[in-house]
Amino acid sequence: MLGCDFIAVRRSNSRGGTCCCAPTPPSIGYSYWIRGLPVTLPSSTTSSQQWNAAVYADNAHFVPALGQPVVDLLLPQSGERILDLGCGDGVLTEKLVALGAQVVGIDNSPDMIAAARLRGLDARIGDARAQVFGNEFDAVFSNAVLHWIKDDPDAPIAGAFRALKAGGRFVGELGGHGCVGAITVALMASLERRGVKDASSWIPWYFPTAEDYELRLRRAGFVPRTVQLIPRPTPLPTGMRGWLNTFANPFCAALPSEERGAYLDEVTALLKPVLCDADGRWTADYTRLRFTAIKP
Ligand code: BEZ
Repeated sequence: MLGCDFIAVRRSNSRGGTCCCAPTPPSIGYSYWIRGLPVTLPSSTTSSQQWNAAVYADNAHFVPALGQPVVDLLLPQSGERILDLGCGDGVLTEKLVALGAQVVGIDNSPDMIAAARLRGLDARIGDARAQVFGNEFDAVFSNAVLHWIKDDPDAPIAGAFRALKAGGRFVGELGGHGCVGAITVALMASLERRGVKDASSWIPWYFPTAEDYELRLRRAGFVPRTVQLIPRPTPLPTGMRGWLNTFANPFCAALPSEERGAYLDEVTALLKPVLCDADGRWTADYTRLRFTAIKP
């Protein structure tokens, strides 16, 4: 299994190259039902990644589980109104609600939003690049999402600024410069070995330096308080293949479907000497960028 059922299509990316993207969903503004819940599609998608709540829960439950430091940095207060940008299946959103906050979660994945609503959360389909809230939240929170918005990293920052009241805070964590460097090199090298030209154009992630992100926050009007790059080697509960099945489908889309299994086997074998220990335990080379910024 490749982790997700998806059909790749190619489209031009903002650099004029090509990237892969998930199957084009029904047209913009189209309303339909998923697991008995009405949903309306957002005006656009936020990345080439296709999300599947069950696969994510199996292979990537460590992502929200390791999100506690950014919740601690947010320090949610009872009664505060908080926007969770890219809430996914709502694991962290639920924590914020348990701390007494009134939380609205948005995510562009209908499957993730359905899973979040099953937790009883106020979760809405929405695009972090184009959300429509204005001057109404005490805080905007985001964990492990902003690195997927490679085509326009300033858009979610501008959206967070618009959504906040004056004095409100934007607190988040994303992959930082060098994150999954070894994994990315292996994914690109194996693509090139299979004849894919310009393998770097298939990288779906934006992993900024602290200086880059601080500048973007300032340009949007924020006053940054902390912007930190934090190396965080991350144990992978279902090994490298589970991780690749969950997160590497944008690279797989460069290949015909019948080649993808062998491709991921080859990437896993390349990485084994550096990311797998003698007992068979895998650790991914994660780096996080964690920040707090205030809307003056
Ligand atoms: C994350 O969920 O934090 C992540 C996903 C893909 C690559 C790197 C990090």
